[in-house]
Amino acid sequence: MTQAAALLAEYVLTELSRPDGPAGPGSGLPLNRRLYEALRRALLDGRLGPGDRLPSSRELAQDLRLSRNTVVAALEQLGAEGYLVSRVGSGTYVHDQLPRVRAGTRPPPRADAAHLPGLSARGQGLVQHHSARDLEIQPFTPGAADFSAFPVALWQRLQNRHWRAARPEMLDYTTSGGYGPLRRAVADHLRVSRHVRLEPEQVLITTGTQQSLELCARLLADVGDTVWMEDPGYWGAIKAFTACGLRLHPVPVDDEGWAPPPASAPAPRLIYVTPSHQYPTGAVMSLARRHALLARAAEANAWVLEDDYDSEFRFDSAPIASLAGLDDDGRVCYLGTFSKVLYPGVKLGYLVVPRAWIEAFRQAHYDLHRPGQLPLQAALAEFIEMGHFATALRRTRQTYAERRARLLQALAPVLSLPGVQITGAAQGLHLCLRLPPALDDRAIAATLAAEGISVRPLSAYALARQDLRGLLIGYGYAQPALIAPCAQRIVAVVQQALG
Ligand SMILES: Cc1ncc(COP(=O)(O)O)c(C=O)c1O
Repeated sequence: MTQAAALLAEYVLTELSRPDGPAGPGSGLPLNRRLYEALRRALLDGRLGPGDRLPSSRELAQDLRLSRNTVVAALEQLGAEGYLVSRVGSGTYVHDQLPRVRAGTRPPPRADAAHLPGLSARGQGLVQHHSARDLEIQPFTPGAADFSAFPVALWQRLQNRHWRAARPEMLDYTTSGGYGPLRRAVADHLRVSRHVRLEPEQVLITTGTQQSLELCARLLADVGDTVWMEDPGYWGAIKAFTACGLRLHPVPVDDEGWAPPPASAPAPRLIYVTPSHQYPTGAVMSLARRHALLARAAEANAWVLEDDYDSEFRFDSAPIASLAGLDDDGRVCYLGTFSKVLYPGVKLGYLVVPRAWIEAFRQAHYDLHRPGQLPLQAALAEFIEMGHFATALRRTRQTYAERRARLLQALAPVLSLPGVQITGAAQGLHLCLRLPPALDDRAIAATLAAEGISVRPLSAYALARQDLRGLLIGYGYAQPALIAPCAQRIVAVVQQALG
C-alpha cells in the first residue's frame, strides 16, 4: 500500500467508526452510503486534491476490508455527483473542479456537484465548510467567556425600566444605525480605550461581528471580488465572505501577524485582519506591519476590516492601540462585539465606518436588516453610562487573568518538549499551544475530546497552509478547579504523541 492510500484508508476507517459521525454506525445508512460519505469528507477536507488518483476499487476494498460491490457503489455515486472522474484504462481521479472547502485554494463549488438537492452552489460551499456549531461550551472551549458570572439581576432591572418607559418610537425599527446614547457610549469607549478617532455618527449597532462583516462585504465588495484573509483565520469571517460570494486569498500569518503578500497576489477589495490578537495564533501585528498594511490597502484601493474581538482583555500591559487609530485615509472599518464582556446571546456589536459612508451604511443596514431592539440597546447604554460595563470588565479581566496564570503554570512542563511553545497568551480568552509539524493535532484533539476536554486543532483553522499544528485552549470558561487536571491531561497526551 502506498503512503497516500494508507492515510486515506486510515481516515475512512476512522470516519466509518465514529459512533455519532455522519458516516458512522449510528447514521442508519447502508454501508455503501456510509463509505460514500466518508470518502466525500476526505475529498472536501483536502485529504485528496484535484487531479489526485484514487486507489483502485479492488485495493480500496482490500484496505478497508469491505466488499468490492460496496466500494464500487460508493465510487459510482461520487462519480455521478462530479467529485470523481474515471479515465478508461488509467483509473479514478479527483475531479479538477473539486468543490471548494478550503477556501481560496480551490474553485467555488459547481452547481452540478450538489449533493444536497435544492441548495445553491454558494449554499453548498457554506454548509460544507467547517462549522463552529459543534463548539459546545466546555472548560477549554476557545474564545468562550464565562458569561455565567454576568449580573443578570441588574440587567433585568435595567431592561424592566426601559420597557416600562418605552415610548412607541422605541418599538419601531431604527433608521439611524442604533440608539443614539448607545452609539455615543460606544464612541466614548473606543476613543479612550482603543484610540479610535471617531464621532458617534460613525457607529452602527449591529447584531454582532457576523452582521458587521456581512454588511461590509455587501457594501464594499462585489461577487467574485477578492478578500485577503489571514491564514490561519477566523471561521466566522470565512463564512460571512463565502456567503457574499467573495474569493478568499489566504495570507500567511507569522509572529508579527499579517505578513504582506507578494505583489503577484490577486488585488484585494477587502482585507480582513485581527491585528490586536490574531485569531487563532494570538500574534500581535507589529507597528511596521500595520503601516505596511495600510499602505498596501491604499495602493490597491482596498478597505480594511479590523476585527477587534477581544482586546478588552489584555493582562500584563496596556491594550494595544487599534489599527483604525492609525488610519488617516478613511480606509478602516472597525468591528467590535459585546459577546465577550456581556454574553454571546445578547447579540449586540458595533461597526465603525469611515465618515464618507455613514449614510450608505445606515440605509443598507435598514434595508437589509430592519434593525430594532431599542429597549435592549437603551438598557445597554445605561449599563455603560452607569459604570457597570467598566466594573464587569475589571471583574472579568481579573477572573481571566487568574485562570490564564493557572493554565500557564499547569502547561509549563510541555514547554520543555522539542518544538512546543505557547503563543498569544498575553491577551484574550485563549492561547495557542504550538506543536511540531510532524504531530497530528486533530488526533490529539480527538483523544482529548473523548475525555471531555474540548480544545481545537490549529490545523482546522488553516486555509491553504499545511505546516500548522497546535491546540487552541480557551480559559475564559474554565472553572479554576478544573484547569490543572485538564491541562495535565493535555501535557500527557502531547508527551505521548511525541513518543
Ligand atoms: C475573531 C472573532 N471575531 C468575532 C467574534 C465574535 O463575534 P460575534 O459578535 O458575532 O459574537 C469572535 C467570537 O469568538 C471571534 O473569535
